[in-house]
Amino acid sequence: MKENQETLFTSAKQIFDNAYAPYSNFNVAVSLLGCNKKVYSGVNVENSSYPEGICAEAAAIGKMISDGCRKIEEILILADTKNPTTPCGGCRQRLMEFSATSTPVYLCNLEELLKITNMGDLLPGAFDLKTIK
Ligand code: THU
Repeated sequence: MKENQETLFTSAKQIFDNAYAPYSNFNVAVSLLGCNKKVYSGVNVENSSYPEGICAEAAAIGKMISDGCRKIEEILILADTKNPTTPCGGCRQRLMEFSATSTPVYLCNLEELLKITNMGDLLPGAFDLKTIK
């Protein structure tokens, strides 16, 4: 793994067990590299009222925005799976809000980097008010 990938991976692994996922038993951790070179990591936070749960992506984005950073340079998603865990449709749109189509997305399990993709490939034709108005 490259240095940035390693940094994001380590940060996601550190908080992975903090995920609150008693309903799905599916922990996810997401790390974002902001344009200020800081790392923002979050985990999924489920709720007894299922639709009120939030994804790890939303948790990480909330931290980044709260810290005053508005541009994502790299994204890492980590789950304990054999095959890569890709973000849900809603989270693709959430991530795209602060990304470029070229923004790399690293999909990992607890051991290794499984796949590298980017936001444009994950969400072609993203809804973007700036380009349609
Ligand atoms: N989940 C995430 O937090 N991020 C993803 O990229 C995929 C899914 C969460 C939502 C829910 O808490 C659990 O994983 C199972 O869907």
